[in-house]
Amino acid sequence: MYPSLKGKVVAVTGASSGLGKAIAQRFAAEGAKVVVNYLTEDDKPDLVIEEIKANGGEASKIQGDVSQEHDVKRIVQFAVETYGTLDVMVNNAGIQAEIPTEELTLESWNKVIQTNLTGAFLGSREAVRHMLDHNIKGSIINMSSVHQQIPWPHFAHYAASKGGIKLLTETLALEYASSGIRVNNIAPGAIDTPINAEKFADPEAKKDVVDLIPMGYIGKPEEIAACVVWLASSEASYVTGITLYADGGMTKYPSFQAGKG
Ligand code: NAI
Repeated sequence: MYPSLKGKVVAVTGASSGLGKAIAQRFAAEGAKVVVNYLTEDDKPDLVIEEIKANGGEASKIQGDVSQEHDVKRIVQFAVETYGTLDVMVNNAGIQAEIPTEELTLESWNKVIQTNLTGAFLGSREAVRHMLDHNIKGSIINMSSVHQQIPWPHFAHYAASKGGIKLLTETLALEYASSGIRVNNIAPGAIDTPINAEKFADPEAKKDVVDLIPMGYIGKPEEIAACVVWLASSEASYVTGITLYADGGMTKYPSFQAGKG
């Protein structure tokens, strides 16, 4: 537990499922006031809010598409109007789609870039504006992926968006370090969330993924949420501009495991 998070106002994008949901729940368990952003009511954001409240936490929901400037402004405004400020912004919302590059339309490319990369830019910029205006030594955490480092055929738009998030994070960390605003990046490996549900439903496809993970298992959303709350807490007060890989060793050349090579 991180006492420094008690009473802090935290916004999490794409928080109605998967990693975002686990992150919102963990911040609420730490005593933070959580803004749960969701895209559509089909995502059932009320379930997240109800679960948080049932466990004694505080949370409110707001619809918004992170690829739209006006919506991201609304999300930050909502946090300020509802809870008085914004201390932590978690730019988590993201999408992926498997498309060989020769078939990748500009529309599909733009959709992924606008959601994953532009969404992180807009969320970071709006959070920074609020933090600078109110002299808040806040924390911004972007959700990248091991594919900011590992090339991924058929996912060129996704890998490009995550590579972009890495340098966006590092640049903002440098730009705002002197204002006390920390900006960090998390790179999960393969985690058990709806984004992977179809693939992991096929035992062979799932085994192919597990074979790429030196620790030998698919990660749990709670294991990513644990990284996020640490980065947001005062325990990470001197940490900015890093990528925290939470990938069971996936980026450490698994084909060399057990003395091979
Ligand atoms: P998920 O599909 O469960 O969650 C993504 C969330 O983002 C959904 O709630 C969705 O409604 C929301 N979303 C999508 N487009 C949006 C938009 N335009 N505006 C607002 N919300 C939007 O998947 P997961 O796994 O929880 O993904 C969360 C983040 O973690 C993504 O950025 C993903 O790229 C990243 N990630 C996930 C990994 C995994 O293995 N699950 C591995 C590496 C990175």
